[in-house]
Amino acid sequence: MDLGIKDRVAIVAASSKGLGKATALGLAKEGVKLTICARDRETLFKTADNIISETSVEVLPVVCDVSKTENINNVVKETINKYNKVDILINNAGGPPTGNFLDFSLEDWQKAIELNLFSTITFSNEVIPYMKENNWGRIVNITSYAVKQPVDGLMLSNTVRAGIIGLAKTLSNEFGPYNILVNNICPGRIFTDRITFLANDRAQKLGKSFDEVITDMGSDVPVGRIGKPEELANLAVFLSSERASYITGTTILVDGGLAKGLM
Ligand SMILES: NC(=O)c1ccc[n+]([C@@H]2O[C@H](COP(=O)([O-])OP(=O)(O)OC[C@H]3O[C@@H](n4cnc5c(N)ncnc54)[C@H](OP(=O)(O)O)[C@@H]3O)[C@@H](O)[C@H]2O)c1
Repeated sequence: MDLGIKDRVAIVAASSKGLGKATALGLAKEGVKLTICARDRETLFKTADNIISETSVEVLPVVCDVSKTENINNVVKETINKYNKVDILINNAGGPPTGNFLDFSLEDWQKAIELNLFSTITFSNEVIPYMKENNWGRIVNITSYAVKQPVDGLMLSNTVRAGIIGLAKTLSNEFGPYNILVNNICPGRIFTDRITFLANDRAQKLGKSFDEVITDMGSDVPVGRIGKPEELANLAVFLSSERASYITGTTILVDGGLAKGLM
């Protein structure tokens, strides 16, 4: 299938590693020009080089902490300076710390909101006017299966990510007439550094080995394993494409069947 997005321009947030990187690479393979961003400069520039050598598309790496509004402003400004438009926005960020309600101060809550919710609001606020001008846009938010089924010990993630779902559905209503489509993807357990971090954390708390925890993490998934980043990226790229032209306001799991609810 030709996805029809060659020469479109995408900003992929938090994309030097993991799900963001896999999505950036997937878009690049479709001929999409990219801006990628993350905090660690060395890893970010290495990722940009890897994507360029694999796909020959243009990649602009911009160092950015997505929890800082002025950093996001700069990512969008540099993207417009280089490409003169933004067609696709992939909202993504690192995960907030693990823990239960009494483990967190109000400051921890503030930081989680800035990292996972406010970054999505800020990026969307910055790019939608450009999309509206061109009567074409795709926004895909990478959230978590926690929005369908809260995960034990992930109080901040369970709470803050739910706000993204409300934002996305409301944006999809308001900007549908401008052909700006907004959707959410909910990863279950996908093998990235985030899963390694969560598995180490769980191994320490339960007194188990890392390998035991990883096996446990795959054992209650109906397809019997943890997912691969490109398995999530495939959906993110499709939802970013011309072919997804009648899909908006949806929230789709990529979890091998892990979440137990009907919807
Ligand atoms: N993997 C899963 O199974 C899974 C499941 C559910 C939800 N999620 C969520 O999906 C998102 C991506 O997860 P992942 O597994 O891809 O994580 P990852 O492998 O740890 O990669 C995170 C990426 O985001 C960047 N990043 C982190 N904090 C950032 C910040 N403040 N500003 C800019 N960039 C930042 C990192 O680079 P720098 O550190 O250099 O900034 C890195 O490139 C997270 O929110 C995670 O909680 C993942």
